[in-house]
Amino acid sequence: MAKTYTQYVCQQCGYTSPRYLGRCPSCNAWNSMVEETVTPPSKQKQRTVRGLIGKSEPIKLSEIKEDGDERIHLPIGEFARVLGGGIVPGSIVLIGGDPGIGKSTLLLQAAMELSKKERVLYVSGEESERQIKMRAVRLLRDSKGEKLSIPEKLYLVTETNLDVILAHIQSLKPEFIVLDSIQTTYLPQMESSAGSVSQVRECASRLRELAKSSGISVFIIGHVTKVGTIAGPRVLEHIVDTVLYLEGDRFQAYRLLRSVKNRFGPTSEVGVFEMQDRGMVEVKNPSEAFLAERVVNSPGSAIAVTMEGTRPLLVEIQGLTSSTTFGNPRRTPNGVDFNRLLLTVAVLSRRVGVRLADQDIFVNVIGGLKISEPAADLAIAAAITSSMRDIPVRADTALIGEVGLSGELRMVGQMDARLREAANLGFKRVIVPKRLRGKRAWKADIRVVEVRSLRDAIKQAMLEKE
Ligand code: TYD
Ligand code: MG
Repeated sequence: MAKTYTQYVCQQCGYTSPRYLGRCPSCNAWNSMVEETVTPPSKQKQRTVRGLIGKSEPIKLSEIKEDGDERIHLPIGEFARVLGGGIVPGSIVLIGGDPGIGKSTLLLQAAMELSKKERVLYVSGEESERQIKMRAVRLLRDSKGEKLSIPEKLYLVTETNLDVILAHIQSLKPEFIVLDSIQTTYLPQMESSAGSVSQVRECASRLRELAKSSGISVFIIGHVTKVGTIAGPRVLEHIVDTVLYLEGDRFQAYRLLRSVKNRFGPTSEVGVFEMQDRGMVEVKNPSEAFLAERVVNSPGSAIAVTMEGTRPLLVEIQGLTSSTTFGNPRRTPNGVDFNRLLLTVAVLSRRVGVRLADQDIFVNVIGGLKISEPAADLAIAAAITSSMRDIPVRADTALIGEVGLSGELRMVGQMDARLREAANLGFKRVIVPKRLRGKRAWKADIRVVEVRSLRDAIKQAMLEKE
C-alpha cells in the first residue's frame, strides 16, 4: 500500500501546503489551513476510475448528435426559471445557502414533484427518515389545506457513505438524485473527515462522473459555512454545471434562489419564494409582493426598478435621516451596497445641496432583497432626501437611474423591460436619465420623464415648489 502523508489544505480555496501556514497565500484567509491525511492514489483506484468513464475517443464536433434543448419539465416555475427552463439530463446542480434557509424544504418539494413521473432518490445525511416523512406530509397540502398523496416513485435513504449511496443508485436506477448534504457525505477510502475540502471535492467529482456517464440529474445541497470550519460550496463551483444560492433574511419570509453559474442557461436569474407553513411557495409576481405593505405618501420611501437577471423587479427603498448625537454620523445600509450609499450621499451633499454631514442615515430595502445594481441609486437618493425634507415622493412615480459623481443621472440597461413592469404595476410616471443617443419611443404605456441631473430628478420626484 502506498504510504500516506499529511498536508495542510485551505478550507476556503483548497490551496495545499506541506506545512502549516497562518494565512493562505492563495486567498489570504487567516487560520484556514487544516491538516488532512492523503493517500496517494493506488493502482487499484486508477483502474476503477478508468472503468467508470470507459474508453474515450476524439470525435468530430460536426458529427455529434444534437439533442436540441432537451430539458425535463419541473413544475415549480420559479425553480425552473433559475435553471434556465428545466432540468438538463445528466446535469449536476449545487444548491448552497445558510443553514435553515430552506434548501432541504425546496428540494424535497422538487423531488416530490418530479417523482410524480420519474423515479427519484432522496439521500439525506442530515435528518432521519421519520423527520423527512413528517416534513413531506406537511408540504403535501394544497393552498386550501387539503392533504395530497405522497408520490409512489420517491425513495428515501439516510446514508452518508458515498460508496453505499452509489451502490443504491446502481440498484435503484433513479432518474434524479438529491444529496442532502455534500458536507455530511464521505468516502471511506479517504482519511480526512466528512466536510473537509478534499472529501467534499472528491465526493462531488464522483457524483459528476455518475451524472455524466448515466444521464442521471443530481442535485447537491451544500451549506455556506463560517470561515475555516468546514468546506463550503465555493470549492465545488467548478466541478458542477450549475450553482444556485438560496438567500434571504431569516426573519423575513421571502427567499431568493439565484443562479451564479449555469452551463445551460443565463446567470443572475432569480426565483422568488415565500416560506410558509406548507413550505416554499412560489411568488409569481414579486414586485407586487414587495410593494404590498407600502405606505403611500409617507416621507422617506421611493420605488426603484431593478433588474434581477432578465426580470425587472420593483422594490421599495426606505431612507431615514436623524440628527447625529455623538461625533461621527453613521451610514447604515440594509440591502444596498455600503459604498454606493456613501457615493450617493456624497453626491447629494455636494451637488444637490442636501445637508447630510450631521445626519445618521439608514437605508432599507423592503422584502429582504439585496440590490447591487447602480440603477437603484436614484431611488436611494430620493428616499434619503424625502426623509430629510419630510416631503413624500409622489406615489405614482417610479425611479430609475445611476448617479454619477458630478451629480448627473446616468443611463442604465434594459429600460424597456423596466418601464413595462412599472406600467404593469399601475405606476403612472417614471423618472429616468435623459437619453443622449438613439431617440425612439419608449415601449411602455407610462409617462416617462427624462432628466439630466440628480437635482432635477429629485425635484420631479417630489414636485417641490422651489
Ligand atoms: P430547511 O429546509 O431545513 O433548511 P436548510 O435545509 O436550508 O437548512 O428549512 C428549515 C426552516 O424552514 C425551518 O426554520 C422551518 C422552516 N419551515 C417552514 O417555515 N415551513 C415549512 O413548511 C417547512 C418544511 C420548514
Ligand atoms: Mg437541510
